[in-house]
Amino acid sequence: MKKQHTNEAVIFFTLIFILFQFTSCKTLSPTKEKISEMTPTASFDNIIPIPVSVSLTGGTFNLNRETKILFASLNPETEFIAKYLQEQINSITGYELAILPFEEKLTKGNISLIINKELNELSKESYSLIISENLIELKANQPEGLFRGVQTLIQMLFPLKNNLNLTSNHIEFPTLEIKDNPRYEWRGVMLDIARHFFSVNDVKKLIDLIALYKFNRLHLHLTDDQGWRIEIKSWPELTEIGGSTQVGGGYGGYYTQEDYSEIVRYAMERYITIVPEIDMPGHTNAALASYPELNCDDIPPELYTGIKVGFSSLCLDKEITYDFIKDVIKEVSDLTPGAYIHIGGDEAYATDSLKYINFIERVQQIIESNNKKMIGWEEISQAKLGSNSVIQFWRKSDYVLKGLQQGSKVIFSPSSKVYMDMKYNPNTELGLNWAGYIEVSDSYNWDPLTQINGISDKQILGVEAPLWTETILNFSDIEFMLFPRLPGIAEIGWSPSFKRNWDEYKRRLANHGNYWKKIGLNYYKSTDINWD
Ligand code: ACM
Repeated sequence: MKKQHTNEAVIFFTLIFILFQFTSCKTLSPTKEKISEMTPTASFDNIIPIPVSVSLTGGTFNLNRETKILFASLNPETEFIAKYLQEQINSITGYELAILPFEEKLTKGNISLIINKELNELSKESYSLIISENLIELKANQPEGLFRGVQTLIQMLFPLKNNLNLTSNHIEFPTLEIKDNPRYEWRGVMLDIARHFFSVNDVKKLIDLIALYKFNRLHLHLTDDQGWRIEIKSWPELTEIGGSTQVGGGYGGYYTQEDYSEIVRYAMERYITIVPEIDMPGHTNAALASYPELNCDDIPPELYTGIKVGFSSLCLDKEITYDFIKDVIKEVSDLTPGAYIHIGGDEAYATDSLKYINFIERVQQIIESNNKKMIGWEEISQAKLGSNSVIQFWRKSDYVLKGLQQGSKVIFSPSSKVYMDMKYNPNTELGLNWAGYIEVSDSYNWDPLTQINGISDKQILGVEAPLWTETILNFSDIEFMLFPRLPGIAEIGWSPSFKRNWDEYKRRLANHGNYWKKIGLNYYKSTDINWD
């Protein structure tokens, strides 16, 4: 009996000891789960726009402070891209990676940016990203493709919550292969600088934000009733008088030609083309107020600071109007390396409709004589268009069909889906609602191909999200109206439609919220999305 008791006691105390060891082990030294919880992990499935193909290969690559960014030394653009990547990684992780030109060997542990002219890519923006256990290789046929691919790599870091400098000595990347190329050539954002003026610095901040989502066009609406915002040396009063105010009154502002060139340069470094818009023959009160001779009665109107549309028109019967347009288009074309000049052409309700058609045809010739191509809002399809001219859809599909019949291509900016100045809902303080309320889901759940019956993908140049600024006063307002809707427009323009799914998209979008919080972006916390 006694012996049995002793045995039971031994078993009992052994069990207690084992249990104690097990629990104390958990608290004193971290378990495997704890370690991996602490190791920051880059994510493969939060990328916006969603890539064409992502295949996981089952391993991990560790990025640490010793990781170098290697670039092809023969190409100065690649060095800029390497620096850009370095800065972005630094701002997200705190790591300061070295950048070096690479010699012939891709060394272990590094990120290599490779231009391979032999890669037979679908577009100059195509890229492939291969992450293996030894190295990260980003390859493209053109630097532009590398730049788009760099955004994918950067976005893999978006879900990381903290600056990692203090907490971790490496970041784990899943090994994978991504192959990616855009669906549409034109993926644009438009900013209205005329209703309210925004500084060069604001435009640069916007360029940086849209570059992250692989946008490649920034359309600047430079002139309207309320303001003329680009210096024209041969017509200086346009900015002296016409640039002097804005919606609501007070001083407006304008870009000198040097300012404008600086925007063009900054955008070009990020493979974004500036598309300048000089709106005519309507939306011209600022020009009419600056030069009496542009008015049929030679009497200049007062400057305008309200938000009505459709009341102004250049005088189409006077030759001086065409001299004016020739001078303006020449100066703007000379400052603009991009192929397109936007001539507005919308809401010309104060212009005789027959004269309007003749006017658009003359302006088209002026644009072409400056070796540029014309874009206009959909109304321009009433005129006879050359096949290089492009129409921008905003409201009426009949106009689009008329343009397509003439061989023009179309950019999709349906106002009820992508006008970023529309309120999210009736409680949104900023914005207007004439095209409806646009929640995040509304701006995501549409496709260019199904907007108008009988149209094919070949006729679609792309998509563009305009932000009109009647109620938008500063950069924080711009952020609030663009985010979180804008990334969805980027995805519509870039990703194949079969890859898009709202329920899956909104999960990815929620993770971008982490990054926006980190950079202090003022985004709308839509209840559509489960933000963390
Ligand atoms: C436009 O919204 N008037 C193009």
